[in-house]
Amino acid sequence: MATSIAPVAWASRLKELEEARAKTDELFGIVTSEALFDRPIPERHRIIFYLGHLEAFDWNLIWKGALQREPFSEELDRLFAFGIDPVDGTLPADRPEDWPSVGEVREYCRRVRAALDGCLQDKRARDAATQYEEAFTSGGLMHVAVEHRLMHAETLAYMLHQLPYDRKHPQPQSPPPAPRAGAPARMVTIPAGVATLGQRKGHAFGWDNEFEEHRVEVPAFRIDAHKVTNGQFLAFVRAGGYDDRSLWTPEDWAWKEAQGLRQPVFWVRRGERVEYRAMFEQIALPRDWPVYVSHAEAAAYARWAGKTLPSEAQWHRAAYGAPDGSERFYPWGSSHPDRDHGNFDFDRWDPVPEAAHPAGRSAFGVEGLVGNGWEWTDTVFHPFPGFERFSFYPGYSANFFDDAHYVMKGGSARTAACMLRRSFRNWFRPRYQYVYAGFRCVEAA
Ligand SMILES: [Fe+2]
Repeated sequence: MATSIAPVAWASRLKELEEARAKTDELFGIVTSEALFDRPIPERHRIIFYLGHLEAFDWNLIWKGALQREPFSEELDRLFAFGIDPVDGTLPADRPEDWPSVGEVREYCRRVRAALDGCLQDKRARDAATQYEEAFTSGGLMHVAVEHRLMHAETLAYMLHQLPYDRKHPQPQSPPPAPRAGAPARMVTIPAGVATLGQRKGHAFGWDNEFEEHRVEVPAFRIDAHKVTNGQFLAFVRAGGYDDRSLWTPEDWAWKEAQGLRQPVFWVRRGERVEYRAMFEQIALPRDWPVYVSHAEAAAYARWAGKTLPSEAQWHRAAYGAPDGSERFYPWGSSHPDRDHGNFDFDRWDPVPEAAHPAGRSAFGVEGLVGNGWEWTDTVFHPFPGFERFSFYPGYSANFFDDAHYVMKGGSARTAACMLRRSFRNWFRPRYQYVYAGFRCVEAA
């Protein structure tokens, strides 16, 4: 028999949902009204889909799924149920007129929120939801709703990043911290040891792919102390890295040629000058910021440098391992993430210099691991031993165990603090270039 969640815990979950909604409402507020039907990334849905999707997801999960209540629009519930995973070469072809009007979508969102909130604040309904979450997850259905929304707060930011400047309302952000002298180009030796991946069931919330906890023996290796910067990547571009077929896999080369790709998608060439496409303005290329590229481009750079991308276990070991054999929850220790530790949790829209947060360094002296851009690994996204899909969301991870996605670790400026936990795994297709993701390289010790 399930036990009720204490009213205090329930109130804090409602508050988290409110805060997450404020984040996504803020994002839609950036888009000018003319741009709501734009499709800033060719492989993704139009912006209007996401406006409906965030509410439809909570609705389908809680109202229809957990509480088994009657919907008021099956058609919109279905239309907004799922996003699309961009498949190479296959682009969606829908037209703006295929979608409901902004007024209809906003009215759907309003009705969904009003009904859901009335229900979540109702004791009997709350107990029903509590039993459901006790039955199916270790941490709760509300966590699923909140983290799903916060993930979209990040992926929507990538998407709006690609929107032309005159289609969005600029937002203020604090200037990046001043760079520290003598930053990158250093490698750190990590001695052989154990990396603990995943988390144990029954302790805290995690998505299905974070279970079960297991240990991996990692031989000694050397890893970049910082992510590769725009300045370092510029040397690769100028050395002809995009013209040297030997640095690319046949599939990556074919994709790059078909796209006519000559540089990272966040860069803009102006004659001989290279500029950077920041969120709300175009600026001179910030050479000490991490470069954001696809896995394909990261792997080509690594080959050019005579190195490789780290495995997920190597990344864990560099981030959380310590010389005394212990492991930390965050690279810097166990204290909750704050602004000194890195560039994350919606503090900024753009990156900061790679060496800006020495307080976030790991026990082995590796910096910038959490925040300021996800990091590609060369680990293909597979389930951990003991994986079980969530019965209420069976496709969350399992749909992507197809040998076509790579694990990313760390977090970006737009990653919520709750998803900076050690076991959290992100994954994308290797030729998807719009994510706030960079990389660092490893070599044998
Ligand atoms: Fe979603």
